[in-house]
Amino acid sequence: MKHAVIPVAGLGTRLLPATKSQPKEMLPVGRKPIVQYIVEELIRVGISEILFITGPGKTSIENHFDINHELVQSLRETGKEELLAELEFDRFHVQYYYTRQRQLRGLGHAVLCASSFVGSEPFVVALGDSLIGLNAQSDVVRRMQRCFDDHVCTAVIAFEEVPEHEIPQYGIAQPAGDEEFFKVLDIIEKPELDEAPSNLAVAARYIFSPRIFDALERTRPGKGGEIQLTDAIKLLIEEGENVYGVRLNGSEHRYDIGNFESYFRAFTEFALADEKYGASLREYIAGLNGG
Ligand code: G1P
Repeated sequence: MKHAVIPVAGLGTRLLPATKSQPKEMLPVGRKPIVQYIVEELIRVGISEILFITGPGKTSIENHFDINHELVQSLRETGKEELLAELEFDRFHVQYYYTRQRQLRGLGHAVLCASSFVGSEPFVVALGDSLIGLNAQSDVVRRMQRCFDDHVCTAVIAFEEVPEHEIPQYGIAQPAGDEEFFKVLDIIEKPELDEAPSNLAVAARYIFSPRIFDALERTRPGKGGEIQLTDAIKLLIEEGENVYGVRLNGSEHRYDIGNFESYFRAFTEFALADEKYGASLREYIAGLNGG
């Protein structure tokens, strides 16, 4: 599996004014912008071609993954060689592609924009506003790849158990069992509590066979008047395709950077885990609490 798609076209309105002129995916969590963690996560599982589905105001993402020769030269000339290590990701052997979702018609429509890029092979979709695990160290996509192959799937989705009040924010699965890998019997986009089949929420990572594109083309607007990726997955299930879920494990919390509450939490946790500054930050916070 060498292709991955990162949808980043959303407006980020829940993070205004921070996102007025910069993409939410470029907000830093600890030392790095969110989207850099995601690219590093994908490269670790063998992805070498990454397509960003972008929109207006997202060009700083392209700049971030470009090589900044002037910066490199300036660091060399001023003897700041140690900072060059921070730009190591410039040298990853990965090819970046960008295309614009020209109408904001929802996540399903965004993924559909990737069809000619993907071709005939399975591919990963990683949502650009969610990190999995502290310092994004999760290997859930590798486990999903294994599940995809072992069970000959059309789709494999990562799931996390969420508290009841969060159920209406996510796609929710009806699982066939309680194993780590499970068959998905049904999936509902952002259900009300009383129609939710479980508390297992889609956790921003998917693997699809290209059959998803055919389902997306046949998917009518759903929640919010948008073409929902979840509805296309539901269609695949109804048509008898094998759709599996993989559970995040206890150490793989999903950080959804879609709102300030979760963004602040993610930033704090990542900063507290920082090798150099984590310990002193912990002392500082303890001091605030005591004061
Ligand atoms: C999207 C999906 C939803 C999923 C969520 C997080 O929602 O539609 O099914 O649970 O991402 O992975 P959004 O956060 O874009 O509203």
